[in-house]
Amino acid sequence: MATNITWHAGLTRTERSELRKQRGCTVWFTGLSASGKSTIATALEQHLLHLGLQTYRLDGDNVRFGLNKDLGFSPQDRVENIRRIAEVAKLFADSTTIALTSFISPYKADRQVARELHADTKNTDSPLPFIEVYVDVSIEEAERRDPKGLYKKAKAGEIKEFTGISAPYEAPENPEIHIHSKDTPVEEAVLIITKYLEEHGLLK
Ligand code: PPS
Repeated sequence: MATNITWHAGLTRTERSELRKQRGCTVWFTGLSASGKSTIATALEQHLLHLGLQTYRLDGDNVRFGLNKDLGFSPQDRVENIRRIAEVAKLFADSTTIALTSFISPYKADRQVARELHADTKNTDSPLPFIEVYVDVSIEEAERRDPKGLYKKAKAGEIKEFTGISAPYEAPENPEIHIHSKDTPVEEAVLIITKYLEEHGLLK
């Protein structure tokens, strides 16, 4: 970090939430490629927008076209990918937006870093809620779906370090929400997450 920098305190998080009439948070989707993270997150985004809420989705593939275009899929690059996304999601959540992130985020430690970053109140007056949503699918089912043909390529050795095939995925142990995507229609997953947000006072 640079030296000679000073945090500039503006409005508090509570003041901003009261004025915007919405509390920000981050809904952090994690799961294998083809688990359904992006599909559920997109449907949730649409649902929340229809309810008149401010929300924005950050997506693994998409962010790698811009902000993270310098990063690949080595362990170090994935750590940096998730670190940046966690910081960006936190900014959205801090602005009172419901930030939705759909990244494989394969390492437990990195998801924990993202969680702690949101809990940190060093420069503000309240923590930001962080809701981890595990979109659970078996590797067999993910391979069967294979919408982008990536599992096929990974198995043929054409993609190195592919999650679930030649790179690890560390499943969450205590996610706030656990969705078995094979048995849960997208609309039902959206309702489960919306209910959670409502019950935790995050839709107002
Ligand atoms: S990570 O692990 O969180 O840094 O990955 P993420 O930023 O979410 O990017 C995952 C998408 O990149 C495509 N892709 C790969 N995924 C996993 N491993 C390798 N080697 C790889 N190469 C490309 C793939 O389309 C992932 O998208 P999803 O939506 O998860 O299927």
